[in-house]
Amino acid sequence: MRYIILNRRDLTMSIQIFHTDLYPTCFHLQTPGSSYVMGVSQDGLLIHLHYGAPVAQAENLTRAENSPWFPAKPGETLLDHVPLEYSGSGMADLRPAAISVEWPEDGDNIADLRYQDYALLPGKPQMEGLPQVYTEKEEEAQTLRITLCDAKGLQVDLFYTIFDNSDALIRRTRVSNKGTSPVVLHRIMSSALDLPDSRMELVHLHGAWAREFNEERMPVGHFRQCISSTKGASGHQHNPFAALVTPGCNESAGEVYAASLVYSGNFLIETDVDAMDQLRFTIGLNDWCFSWQLLPGEEFCSPEAVLVYSAQGLGHMSRTYHRLYQNRLCRGSWRDRPRPVLLNTWEGVYFDFNRDKLLHLAKAAAEQEIELFVLDDGWFGHRDSDNSSLGDWIPNEKKLGCTLRELAEDVNRLGMKFGLWVEPEMVSPDSDLYRAHPDWALCRPNRPATLARTQLILDLSRTDVQDYLIDAMSSVFESAPIDYIKWDMNRNMTEIGSFASPEKSAGEIAHRYMLGLYRVMETLVTRFPDILFESCASGGGRFDPGMMYYMPQAWTSDDSDAIQRLDIQGGCSLVYPPSCMSCHVSAVPNHQVGRVTSLDTRWNVAVMGGGFGYELNMTALSDEEKEIVRKQIRTYKEDRGFLFTSELYRLEAPADGMFAYAQVAPDKSRLAVTCIRRMFRAQRAPLWLRLNGIAPDKQYVEKSSGEVYSGTELLNRGVRIVLDDADFSSVRLDFVEKK
Ligand code: DGJ
Repeated sequence: MRYIILNRRDLTMSIQIFHTDLYPTCFHLQTPGSSYVMGVSQDGLLIHLHYGAPVAQAENLTRAENSPWFPAKPGETLLDHVPLEYSGSGMADLRPAAISVEWPEDGDNIADLRYQDYALLPGKPQMEGLPQVYTEKEEEAQTLRITLCDAKGLQVDLFYTIFDNSDALIRRTRVSNKGTSPVVLHRIMSSALDLPDSRMELVHLHGAWAREFNEERMPVGHFRQCISSTKGASGHQHNPFAALVTPGCNESAGEVYAASLVYSGNFLIETDVDAMDQLRFTIGLNDWCFSWQLLPGEEFCSPEAVLVYSAQGLGHMSRTYHRLYQNRLCRGSWRDRPRPVLLNTWEGVYFDFNRDKLLHLAKAAAEQEIELFVLDDGWFGHRDSDNSSLGDWIPNEKKLGCTLRELAEDVNRLGMKFGLWVEPEMVSPDSDLYRAHPDWALCRPNRPATLARTQLILDLSRTDVQDYLIDAMSSVFESAPIDYIKWDMNRNMTEIGSFASPEKSAGEIAHRYMLGLYRVMETLVTRFPDILFESCASGGGRFDPGMMYYMPQAWTSDDSDAIQRLDIQGGCSLVYPPSCMSCHVSAVPNHQVGRVTSLDTRWNVAVMGGGFGYELNMTALSDEEKEIVRKQIRTYKEDRGFLFTSELYRLEAPADGMFAYAQVAPDKSRLAVTCIRRMFRAQRAPLWLRLNGIAPDKQYVEKSSGEVYSGTELLNRGVRIVLDDADFSSVRLDFVEKK
């Protein structure tokens, strides 16, 4: 017997439920380019049957000879070899579990999860208190909820949401204690995936401060590999994203199974290949030090994991994430609006400014037709270095020479909006806030706390501290006409504990901190809907989907060198939409690496991001440089509508050490192609760059030369790239459809 539910002809997705002899209940989630199939065995195990390219008749996957079982003797199941959808713990499956629990009353650590029932839900039910992908109309998405239970009253609800016209699958887990005694969660993954073939490579992003988002690829080994953070933030070192790809997978060919976590704290992504060469791929909260007590009647929700399957390489994967995150994760009045061109004061003057200097800078910015003037660190307390005043959010009127409002109004009179830097989550030991509330800092009572950048973190697991922060930030945001906020966070968590709940584990406090932070940000972005918020954590130290739910753009890296940024922005674009990346043109020699690049190249790299601006001392530019910058800003303003909605195609660079990308209008009527050379090598044959993402049957005119190209020529032969014979040279070509 077979029946189909939630399948409308006009939609490209469907969820089907059917029965077969071997599996009394089966589920098939279908997106345009993927199928996800599960079946409930006769003894109630939820078995994973397929994830990958679409299958037409999922019933065939349940034939007895296709069974993924390894029966030992009749009636015996070797659980350790069965592809389980969400593995429990303490039983015969000895691979890394999806959930692990303990019942303190009797020391029992078993979670024997058996199928209970399912529900089909229109749209996407939302959770309380966590960032998440959302729908605008119910018909955009469909959700399947599958409920598993352990006899002791542990209920596990698995949620699966698919969107129309998208190959993303959004998963999350909710655990409820329906029993009569407390249960402690030690591990709860958002998604677990058992794949039959381990001949895969793991792609992920690693980095450090000022060197984020380096793409790394390695074969998956017969052991447990993990990508994670224990830093209290998603971190510079690893990003909460990984993809399993078939060997040889490139931008447009090969299979990809990707997972990204909508969370900004400690996370864990694991691969484990078992003795039978099966591959388990899990993603969720980091189980490091994690323990969370659930009393009878309580529940716990995991963050969401967004899986993407692509049979067309990494490019399709990236664009699937970009569309979903730009349109259905980012929110607010700025979601669909191209962002203002800004000047940020940090690399221009650092802490060294006064009223005259700021107004001088602002005037120079206004002359360049900059739209937003951002005052970075150093405007409050007595902060002239990073040694003090975090927590004392009172403008330093002596240094500013006026009130914050007066300064902002001066900037407004010059025709620009005013923006401000804050680092709300932190407290300096040298601050009135710390002197008044030393117990508000995150630390283990009776232990020394490590200082980093001479600062401590506020204990946002506490409601009173969250409330204080909401009030303190509201006062700042209301004190002047502020149109933009850069929300920074500049250290990792150490000695994680709370004076308010000393008995709680580091893992629990770290997660409670994130829930507290999300509450603070939700309140503030709701209260100040017109402010454009940008997140930052010493650059890209918390560049993750969780933050994107509250703040639609993030400072990609403190390294603003155009050449270093190629890897940083290229890697970031694997998952994150260019519209969310803040990218600035800075001074040369570059402050982080000392490199000298042309203004053209700096612009060609920076316009990849939706948060475009300058971060240099505008008053120090020569007349010639001012002329170039003015032209750049005018061009950017003309193009930004197109750039903001364009789709990104990373191109196979024509020669070693080059980086190339195309920004393509969704209807393929226009594209901008950029190619940047790292080191020049003498004696090169002409370079041809093959494009991607355009319509083969259209004709395109290249604007600067007036040359007409057919789509097939650009796709299959490419366009000739002419670069100056020099290191770091670059070129940008604009193509429009010939009508
Ligand atoms: C770290 C940020 O990443 C920088 O852009 C700058 O805002 C500094 N903090 C200010 O302290």
